[in-house]
Amino acid sequence: MIDRTKSLLTAVVLGLACAPALAETPLERGSYLVNGIIGCGDCHTPRGKPPGPFLSGGNKQMGGQAVTANITPDVETGIGGWTDEQIITALREGKRPDGSTIGPPMPVRDYRAMSDDDVKAVVAYLRTVPPVKNVVAKSQYKNPLPASYGPPVGHVPNPPADDQIAQGAYLAGPLGHCMECHTPMGPEGRADMENRLGAGGQDFRLPNGVVTSANLTPTGLSRYTDAQLKTIITTGKRPDGTEITGPMEVSLYAKLTPKDLDAIVAYLRSLPPKG
Ligand code: HEC
Ligand code: HEC
Repeated sequence: MIDRTKSLLTAVVLGLACAPALAETPLERGSYLVNGIIGCGDCHTPRGKPPGPFLSGGNKQMGGQAVTANITPDVETGIGGWTDEQIITALREGKRPDGSTIGPPMPVRDYRAMSDDDVKAVVAYLRTVPPVKNVVAKSQYKNPLPASYGPPVGHVPNPPADDQIAQGAYLAGPLGHCMECHTPMGPEGRADMENRLGAGGQDFRLPNGVVTSANLTPTGLSRYTDAQLKTIITTGKRPDGTEITGPMEVSLYAKLTPKDLDAIVAYLRSLPPKG
C-alpha cells in the first residue's frame, strides 16, 4: 500500500516535472505558421485596401492563368467538405479529392517537406477560420499541368529539436521560401538550389522597376551582426537606414519567435559562401 502510494506520488511529481510548461497545441502551432512564416493569406486572402475576408481566395497569379482558391471551411465554395487527409494531400502532393492537379503557384514542391506534425497543425487551424461563401473563377493554364509533383510523400519527421541549423534550414526552406527567392534561377527555370543556394540575384519586376534578391550566404551577410540581421528580416530596415523593397513580406517574419529567428540566422551563417 505504502509502496503504491509512493509510486503514484512519484508518477505525479515526475509528470509535473516533465510536462512542458507552455506546450504549444497543434492549433496554436497552426495559427503561428499560417499567420506567420508560411503566410497562406499572402496568396489566398483577397488583395485590396482593406484586404477581403481571410483566406477566401480569388487573387489572380501567373499573369491571370491561376486564381487562388477559397480555403475557408465553407462546405459549398471552400474546403469545408474535405477530410483532413484530403487537405494534407492537397498541400503536400498538389492533388484535389477529385484527382485533379493544383497548379504551380501553390508551393507544393516546398510543402512536400512540411512535417506531419506541422501539416496537421495547419489543417487544425484552417478548420477554425470563419467560413466564407465565395465562388472563385477556375484557373486556366496555357500549358498542361504535371500529373503529379512526385511520388507519395509518406512520413515526414520534424527537424531534430537539438539541431539548430536543421531547424533554420526547415524554416528558411519549405516553410518560409527564403531560399526560393534568394537563389538565382538555373537553366531549367527553377532556383538552382544545388549549385547556388542563397547566392541571391533573382530579379523581381515591380511597378516602378526591378529589385534583385540579396546574397544571403556569408559573402553577402558577414557585414551584419546577428542583431542587425534580425532587424532586417523582421522590419526590412538596414543599419544604414535604407529599407528593403519588393516581394519580401517582413510583416510575416516580424511574428517569428526569438528561437526560430535565431535558427534562421544560424542556418544562413552556415551556408557555403557564394560570390
Ligand atoms: C504563392 C501563392 C500561394 C501560397 C503561399 C499558398 N497557396 Fe494555396 N493555392 C495557390 C493557388 C494559385 C491555388 C489554385 C491553383 C489552381 O487552381 O490550379 C491554390 C490552391 C490551394 C488549394 C486547393 C483548393 C481547391 O479548392 O482547389 C488548397 C487546399 C490550398 N491552396 C491551401 C493552401 C494553404 C493551406 C497554404 C498555406 C500553408 C497555401 N495554400 C499557400 C497559391 C498559393
Ligand atoms: C518573395 C521573395 C522573397 C522571400 C520569400 C524572402 N526574401 Fe529576402 N529579399 C528579397 C528581395 C528581392 C530582397 C532585396 C530587396 C532590396 O534590395 O530592396 C531581399 C532582401 C533580404 C535581406 C537584405 C540583405 C542585404 O544585403 O541587405 C535579407 C537579410 C533577407 N532578404 C533575408 C530573407 C530571409 C531570412 C527570408 C525568409 C525568412 C527572406 N529573405 C525571404 C526577396 C525575398
